[in-house]
Amino acid sequence: MSSASVSARYAANEAVRMMAEQEISKGGAPEMTDHVLRTESLSVFYGAAQALQDISLSIPGNRITALIGPSGCGKSTLLRCFNRMNDLIPGLRVEGKIWLHEQDLMAPAVDVVAVRRRVGMVFQKPNPFPKSIYDNIAWGARINGYLGDMDELVERCLRRAALWDEVKDKLSKSGEQLSGGQQQRLCIARTLAVEPEIILMDEPCSALDPISTAAVEDLMEDLKSEYTIVIVTHNMQQARRVSDMTACLMLDSTPGQGRRVGVVVEFSPTHRLFTNPTDPRTEAYITGRIG
Ligand SMILES: Nc1ncnc2c1ncn2[C@@H]1O[C@H](COP(=O)(O)OP(=O)(O)OP(=O)(O)O)[C@@H](O)[C@H]1O
Ligand SMILES: [Mg+2]
Repeated sequence: MSSASVSARYAANEAVRMMAEQEISKGGAPEMTDHVLRTESLSVFYGAAQALQDISLSIPGNRITALIGPSGCGKSTLLRCFNRMNDLIPGLRVEGKIWLHEQDLMAPAVDVVAVRRRVGMVFQKPNPFPKSIYDNIAWGARINGYLGDMDELVERCLRRAALWDEVKDKLSKSGEQLSGGQQQRLCIARTLAVEPEIILMDEPCSALDPISTAAVEDLMEDLKSEYTIVIVTHNMQQARRVSDMTACLMLDSTPGQGRRVGVVVEFSPTHRLFTNPTDPRTEAYITGRIG
């Protein structure tokens, strides 16, 4: 890609950022910091099969960014790029750049463990460790060298994840004995315990009932004063409720390629994307005509 088209892309991203600041600066909301995570002409391949093509996105700080799009368009693949989780998949190859602030995340010298500490992840299926509720929080913190008051950390993270009142009398019980919604909040508390800067969530509510979903959504809103959140969701109402920015991905046919690859067709402030999408494919997806 020519440097002219890259800078045009970034001019476009800059315009989106300015619109976003105007449209999403809600009263009392923390100031938005730009470029916490950024991809530049990112393409991802599983062996010979390309999953994502030419993704250039700039994720704003202290905001919630939603990734939406039909199954198989590469949302999870993109999310996993942000904390090098894709490294665990044999045969996966990445082209282009991924920046965490000014750090080139794909550079050979990058300390991947440190990256995953800064960029935590919550998965679709709650996956507490087969340990006590207390140790689900304490274990990761201990491994990461936490030397402070562990009881205080456990309580603080469980309170932050809106779970403390439900579990304070059974901290020694197994995390696996909690309900699905409680387990997901435990996994969020566990993620908070290593003090990340960014939290990636891959369909965190898809296994939860509406009450637990509401609890996790409230929690996300509460967390964004301190964290940057990127969430993948198939639930359009959820994307509208929780996110400030939305990227709509789609499978696109590329000339000369047998199979379709994931591209970002629109990246806009959420309100705008859902009320006045600029790309007809976004409109078709959010109104249920694609996907
Ligand atoms: N480990 C893997 N090995 C090979 N191909 C993979 C792997 N994971 C994903 N893919 C392929 O990459 C493409 C994108 O998959 P991905 O899981 O990122 O999509 P998605 O948008 O998250 O879908 P869903 O909404 O169903 O979760 C798909 O074609 C998928 O088959
Ligand atoms: Mg997925």
